[in-house]
Amino acid sequence: MEKSGRARSAVDVLVVGAGVIGLSVAWRCRQRGLSVTVVDPAPGSGASRTAAGMLAPVTELHYGEQPLLELNLASAARYPAFAGELEDVTGRSIGYRRTGTVVAAWDAADLAALRDLAGFAGTLGHPVQALTGRELRSLVPGIAPGLPGGLLAPDDHQVDNRRLHAALLAAVTGAEARLVDAPVARIDVGGGRARGVITADGTSLPAGTVVLAAGAHSGRVAGLPDADRPRVHPVRGQTLRLRMSADTMPPLIVRGTVKGSPVYLVPRATSLESGPPTGELVIGASSEEAGFDCTPRAGAVYELLRDAQSLLPAVSEAELVEVSTGLRPGSPDNAPLIGRSRTEGLVIATGHYRNGVLLTPITGDGVAALLADGALPPELLAFSPERFAPQEVR
Ligand code: GLY
Repeated sequence: MEKSGRARSAVDVLVVGAGVIGLSVAWRCRQRGLSVTVVDPAPGSGASRTAAGMLAPVTELHYGEQPLLELNLASAARYPAFAGELEDVTGRSIGYRRTGTVVAAWDAADLAALRDLAGFAGTLGHPVQALTGRELRSLVPGIAPGLPGGLLAPDDHQVDNRRLHAALLAAVTGAEARLVDAPVARIDVGGGRARGVITADGTSLPAGTVVLAAGAHSGRVAGLPDADRPRVHPVRGQTLRLRMSADTMPPLIVRGTVKGSPVYLVPRATSLESGPPTGELVIGASSEEAGFDCTPRAGAVYELLRDAQSLLPAVSEAELVEVSTGLRPGSPDNAPLIGRSRTEGLVIATGHYRNGVLLTPITGDGVAALLADGALPPELLAFSPERFAPQEVR
């Protein structure tokens, strides 16, 4: 990683943001022969770190979000090849696990709501399997007794988001993209087009195209024309990381809504370091409108542990290793903003909200196609940033 210096020659693509989205764009652009610089003061310290890594097109399905579902499914379908390629190129595992997800119903009313959602997914051609209480317990032996049943989404998988980020960083640097670890002071816009960025120490980083992939911060980067300020807002999420013995780990992702409060438990691969086998369990996530404040909130930790333990009693014996807080980049319709802006030379890749890790492959491919071939692929056309009216001037 370089510190920024004074003088730089122009690159084809300058990516603002080295989270998984920015890095996938950078990697794919390098593979298309474009010269690339990525600028970020702390790569991978935001939502890419806090995320749980669920690849959950079906179990995060909401009524009225069919276009997003189709995009999510298309990106999920790319994951096996994407993970294989990234692992081959870098020699690093990204922890892509095809375990499926169970959604446990808390009570009879919850079970009825889940069956409704299952019906909706079925009408869209994505069947999920209804589970009786007995079937739920046979899939997750440690599940709390007495739960009435649930659903199995066999194709909702996971990746280890931190390993994914580390592998993307290795791929990008291995592909000879330049990484500059400096804050961006502003996008350099002159004569009606984006010309690069100016970093906090005054360095100019000129580029043919600027790709804005700064997650929840994308809307407040200085220098953006108001018409192009992406309509993203921060939705704070807290996740917990626990260490627990391998025999108490759930074998697949478990989700549920405990007395109205959603929670998920994501088991990472078991490690055999020293002592008895243990694994990491990621529990998430709060959903809080708290601006850009990333201070962990004790109440959120309490609620996550309470609800996770209600679904999987063994959580109470696990070691609490970490509390992580990040900001999801929420958008007005919960779908990402990917494509050209109204300003020449400025491309947007943000607003991935709850699906950033899932949408990493399709976003990288799509933005690289836009920049190398001149057009976004058809599956991304509905997600143009221009679908929203310009943001109000603040
Ligand atoms: N995709 C999980 C979350 O946003 O909490």
